[in-house]
Amino acid sequence: MKLWGTVRKQMTDIDNRIRGEFPLLMRDKTIYLDNAATTQKPRCVIDAEADFYTSRNANPMRGLYDLSLAATEIYEKARAKAASFVNASRPEEIIFTRNATESINLVAYSYGLHNIKSGDEIIVSIAEHHSNFLPWKNVADMTGARVIYWDCEPDGTLDPDELDRLITDRTVLVAVTQVSNVLGRINDIAAIAAKAHAAGAVLVCDGAQSVPHMSVDVRALDVDFFAFSGHKMYAPMGIGVLYGRYGLLDEMPPFLYGGEMIESVTRDRTVFAEVPHKFEAGTVNAAGAAGLLAAMEYMEGYGMDLIAERESGLTRYCFDEMCRIPGISILGSQKSEEHHGIIAFKVDGVHPHDVTAILSDAGIAVRAGHHCAQPLHRHLGIMSSTRVSFSFYNNKDEVDTFVKVLSQVRHRMGIN
Ligand code: ALA
Repeated sequence: MKLWGTVRKQMTDIDNRIRGEFPLLMRDKTIYLDNAATTQKPRCVIDAEADFYTSRNANPMRGLYDLSLAATEIYEKARAKAASFVNASRPEEIIFTRNATESINLVAYSYGLHNIKSGDEIIVSIAEHHSNFLPWKNVADMTGARVIYWDCEPDGTLDPDELDRLITDRTVLVAVTQVSNVLGRINDIAAIAAKAHAAGAVLVCDGAQSVPHMSVDVRALDVDFFAFSGHKMYAPMGIGVLYGRYGLLDEMPPFLYGGEMIESVTRDRTVFAEVPHKFEAGTVNAAGAAGLLAAMEYMEGYGMDLIAERESGLTRYCFDEMCRIPGISILGSQKSEEHHGIIAFKVDGVHPHDVTAILSDAGIAVRAGHHCAQPLHRHLGIMSSTRVSFSFYNNKDEVDTFVKVLSQVRHRMGIN
């Protein structure tokens, strides 16, 4: 008993410590369970962004004076940290963008339009967020290539045998998420990469819902391109990352044209800058990169193992408690351990917007709708769902309150 009391106290201490690092969570009483949409920001990230503007603000990579050099220094430090965070071979393999959506669009416009031609096939999993779906649909529309859909099983599994069946000698690219933003299901990216590569195709992976929650190693996954967003991993909005294999990036033309992405320009000839600067036209979001650097250092301070362990504990607990509520059906896997921080669900007879409104009245923030994954919802035979998603700063008391209010929803809607 005494030992359990000590463990409980240690858990409460760490809960309180983590919570105390997030100014909004201390000030606002909202039970914030919409972390797949965006996370709250710790004080160190807010300070890092403010510090950029109070002590380093100048246009990076342009000036030879101290302020500009200081801005460049923190921007490139963030790049090096992002490279080590996902185990890229070198910092040049990291391109800063606005978010995962822009990262995937960069690949679609720069790699896709120049390497994909009429008759080629692009395999896209049906579980994709629109950001790893629409860019490929657009490339197909512009080139005459075809998008081939890789349907998932009702439990969210992407069957590797089905991929074998879909891959042909016309397959040039496979686009798949590491963790579904609706089903919370993790995909075996290394195995998918091996199949794509055996067919001579490249693999584009959306890591927006994985990098914030688990250790990611792009070399072990053997992905060609990997996209993620800062704002879902405690960093400011407006900074995102594209990892690309150096050899591919080096061959690709620029995505946007303009300032700072060139070596030289004459009336007739432009020599573009080396990777990564070739892909970072215009003034970059250096303050956002400073915030992202602080966010990655913050996460490393706790360790990805601790973050993953806390989140999976909360997810399993929430899942098990939700299963006890009559009229709730959880989308995807019916095994709690197959939901990575995300549980989407339906409440019988109640529209997700009403579910969300009732939860919101009780001070609980969750997301309702199609979660930018309409093809997946249609594949599952529904139009929308409600989604609860966790960060390591959430705690069991918040889950208990969520479950309690959720259990009252049908009654509140007059359903017995
Ligand atoms: N992509 C974010 C989500 O899934 C916005 O909610």
